[in-house]
Amino acid sequence: MKRYKAIAAYYDAENQQHEMLKHDVPFFLGQLPKKRQDILELAVGTARAAIPLAQAGHRVVGVDYVDDMLAIARRKRDAVGLTEKQLKLVRQDALKLDLRQRFDWVVILFNTLLAFTTLEELDRLLQNVRRHLKPRGRFWLDVFNPDHAMLSREQEKGIDRDVFFVPEFERTVYRQTDITRDTARQVMRITNRYTWFDAFGREKRERFDFDMTCVYPRELQLLLERNGLQIEHLWGNYDGSEFAKSSPRMIARCTPM
Ligand SMILES: C[S@@+](CC[C@H](N)C(=O)[O-])C[C@H]1O[C@@H](n2cnc3c(N)ncnc32)[C@H](O)[C@@H]1O
Repeated sequence: MKRYKAIAAYYDAENQQHEMLKHDVPFFLGQLPKKRQDILELAVGTARAAIPLAQAGHRVVGVDYVDDMLAIARRKRDAVGLTEKQLKLVRQDALKLDLRQRFDWVVILFNTLLAFTTLEELDRLLQNVRRHLKPRGRFWLDVFNPDHAMLSREQEKGIDRDVFFVPEFERTVYRQTDITRDTARQVMRITNRYTWFDAFGREKRERFDFDMTCVYPRELQLLLERNGLQIEHLWGNYDGSEFAKSSPRMIARCTPM
């Protein structure tokens, strides 16, 4: 997990301008009843979503398995004056999740379901979701809708170029991304390449690789159903539109079966 250290410090700065991330949490909050809800956020990261959920009055537990992400989440939680009771942050692998508590909502945002790249992992994760839901609880997920034109490209280099400032290091960082797709495994290897210049003008480089799968709409339905969950509502975007062929997202609210 050491490789996450610098990347964890980049996470919020890197994603601050991400258009979709301006809408996902407000949209989810709009779906919640006024009454206080017990919410479990899987793969909570730096608590980008968990903090506003707790600030809205809900009781949130966030789970992640990377210490550096959780350390940032704790710092941010304490800085806004939320207590451990309002937002509890737990270091656990979502694949071995055991909190001995059931929740009104289990949520996994920002494509993170796709970090579980094999059928075995997806089944284990969804079984864990099911076990942590109250009988009338809801599971909320958001993944991208596979775009066939994009997925047909075996390799892409130097895409999604961006530049961002990391206050902690007083560093301006340039990022570009390479993607290699393995269609047999339905997995893509994403490599983020970061470049910056130190105080002496020397160029520094860092890279971060991770794997991601994609799931098709019917595959998502089948995966959920074989793990005791069913889609109650499927949106295609954060403008509230229903899922349709050109939708960029699959935003699903699911119930236990
Ligand atoms: C893209 S970030 C999402 C963070 C946050 N949910 C958000 O929407 O901003 C993905 C997070 O998933 C976490 N993660 C990936 N696999 C995990 C696992 N098996 N158990 C717990 N956390 C995991 C990573 O550590 C990382 O913090």
